[in-house]
Amino acid sequence: MNLDRLEPALATIATSSPPATRRDFLLIATGAAGAVGAAAAAWPFVSSLAPDAETIAAGAPVDVDLGPIAAGQIVKVFWRGKLIFVRHRTEAEIKAAQDVNVASLPDPQPDSARVKQGHANFLVVYGSCTHLGCVPLGNEGPYKGWACPCHGSVFDTSGRIRGGPAPINLPIPPYTFVSDTKVRIGEEAKVAPKAATAA
Ligand code: FES
Repeated sequence: MNLDRLEPALATIATSSPPATRRDFLLIATGAAGAVGAAAAAWPFVSSLAPDAETIAAGAPVDVDLGPIAAGQIVKVFWRGKLIFVRHRTEAEIKAAQDVNVASLPDPQPDSARVKQGHANFLVVYGSCTHLGCVPLGNEGPYKGWACPCHGSVFDTSGRIRGGPAPINLPIPPYTFVSDTKVRIGEEAKVAPKAATAA
């Protein structure tokens, strides 16, 4: 299934295990929130405060409500036509990501560099394998991060490449926490300019 062809107005999120079924797809609220809430009852409903479809298509940031995402769950969001994973990590997953000899990694990066300070429980990464672009499957593989079904690359709970042909970690899109329960994908936090110092 080509997820990129899904109607952008639905701002789709989905679970990650094929084969896809109706319940594999959750719809983030745009105009369709009420219509899909009941159908998606088996899954947490993730609402989005995103602007309208036309604005999304033009590349506007997308807000994602984190409240309904349970620990251990991964949801998928589309931003600028790209699939993005938003993962609510459990304490064990965070510990596994942190208890790693960074120097031993193929693409060395500490977990702290892959999450926002004070928000280690949420990981936001592009959902495209860095080998040839397949969609990795969540909670799979020896590190229970992601496993790519195409050629066997495996990623840990920080989205770092740990084995297989993928050369680098799952990239991180620009995003910022606008509150403890909401992220804005497509926008980085603005850094206040430093005050001028007297000569
Ligand atoms: S596309 Fe993922 S391992 Fe090849």
